[in-house]
Amino acid sequence: MSIALRARSGVWGSRTTFVLALTTSAIGLGNLWRFPYLLGENGGALFLMVYLATLFLVAVPVMIAEVVIGSHGRADPMSSLLYASKHSGTFAAWSVIGWIMGIAALLILAYYSVVAGWGLAYVQKMDSGVFGDASAATVGQLFIDFLADPEALVYWQSIFIILTFAISGLGIHRGLGVLFWFAIPLLLVLLGVLIIFNLQYGDMEKAGEFLFSSVSFDFTARSVLIAMGHAFFTLSVGVGVGIAFGAYAPDKLPIGRTVIAVAVLDSFVAIAAGLAIFPIVFAANLEPSMGPGLMFVSLPYAFGNMPQGETYGLLFFVLVSVIALGSAVALAETPMAYLVERMRLRRPVAAVLLGAVVWLLALSCALSFNQWSEVYFYESLTLFQLLDRLTVEFLLPVAALLTTLYVGYALRREVLRVELYRETNNFFFLWRACLRYIAPPAILVIMLAASIEIL
Ligand code: TRP
Repeated sequence: MSIALRARSGVWGSRTTFVLALTTSAIGLGNLWRFPYLLGENGGALFLMVYLATLFLVAVPVMIAEVVIGSHGRADPMSSLLYASKHSGTFAAWSVIGWIMGIAALLILAYYSVVAGWGLAYVQKMDSGVFGDASAATVGQLFIDFLADPEALVYWQSIFIILTFAISGLGIHRGLGVLFWFAIPLLLVLLGVLIIFNLQYGDMEKAGEFLFSSVSFDFTARSVLIAMGHAFFTLSVGVGVGIAFGAYAPDKLPIGRTVIAVAVLDSFVAIAAGLAIFPIVFAANLEPSMGPGLMFVSLPYAFGNMPQGETYGLLFFVLVSVIALGSAVALAETPMAYLVERMRLRRPVAAVLLGAVVWLLALSCALSFNQWSEVYFYESLTLFQLLDRLTVEFLLPVAALLTTLYVGYALRREVLRVELYRETNNFFFLWRACLRYIAPPAILVIMLAASIEIL
């Protein structure tokens, strides 16, 4: 791209801002809502191990590769990919990665908004006091009733989508610091409160066994794919966010160490969420494998039964919504950057346009919990489940695979070395080896094994 675009370096001002941006995109519903319920469905400890292994051996190297593309190209994901191809003399066709990423971002955003809307609704429910001293069965029923009400779902997700695109339309640089310095630490404190509550009232022993040592009953190739897909999801890999943020990376950023730090922090929050949720699940005889409702049943029950629980609960769901908002704004950035920088739309116009598309997609997701709950795709997937699986089990792994091949094999080694000049030779060697020899076969084998099993 032009010199003008490359000159945008250092827009984030400092290394800290970049770390903040990446962390706020990583920590979200993936940690609090998605990770615990997947653990529950896929039998605990083994899932956790596969998740950690794929996170550090596959997802982290791919995220580093994304940031390298961005800091090399200094432009939106599509332009950065084209710039890198030109610079290394490879095919421009590689920029198809950008399309896959943009589509994945939009689809994730659609169902993410639905769940974030649940979070907003639960702020109000906490405030209304319905959970006070409620039994686990009552709390479960409240969630079922809530899902059966299309108007409520659509109302809350609409508010979430409007907030997301209002922020995105105004520009994403403001407000990130607030999220990071305020919302994330506070969230950690609240998870700590829940864990302390659990020491007294939860079944810590069973939860610990489930999370760290259980031998799983039906752990399949698909569970491995789900664990790897979640590693991508939670680190925000495969939707171009690494490229979009890397484009603003300050010059002296040690990209490798930064991404590793984000992955460690992200997993820490996920495991804390597990320790906050599962002891309640076991103590209240809830089903660990109950699926997407896990957080929305176990935590309100705990809050409803602890001293000052309603205040804590209110604060918790406010934070969940705020943190989801941070991730959603980041998710919107790949398609936004495309519309603004390549199609030359004004930011507010692009925001309205994308907001409308996401709203329509989210609408059909919400209806799949009630009006359309009988409308199935493939054997038995509702639209919500279809979007989740299509993105996490297919689009993200494919985008990640193409990124490993592109950066590992197609781009010139010297180009990569320059972007990673703050890292040692050993680090660079290891990273590139992961990208060339470990990640691609791992992704391929896992995807193939799971698809053979499904067929
Ligand atoms: N990582 C986010 C979470 O855990 C979700 C997510 C996936 C995301 N891809 C993203 C966020 C891209 C921002 C950008 O909740």
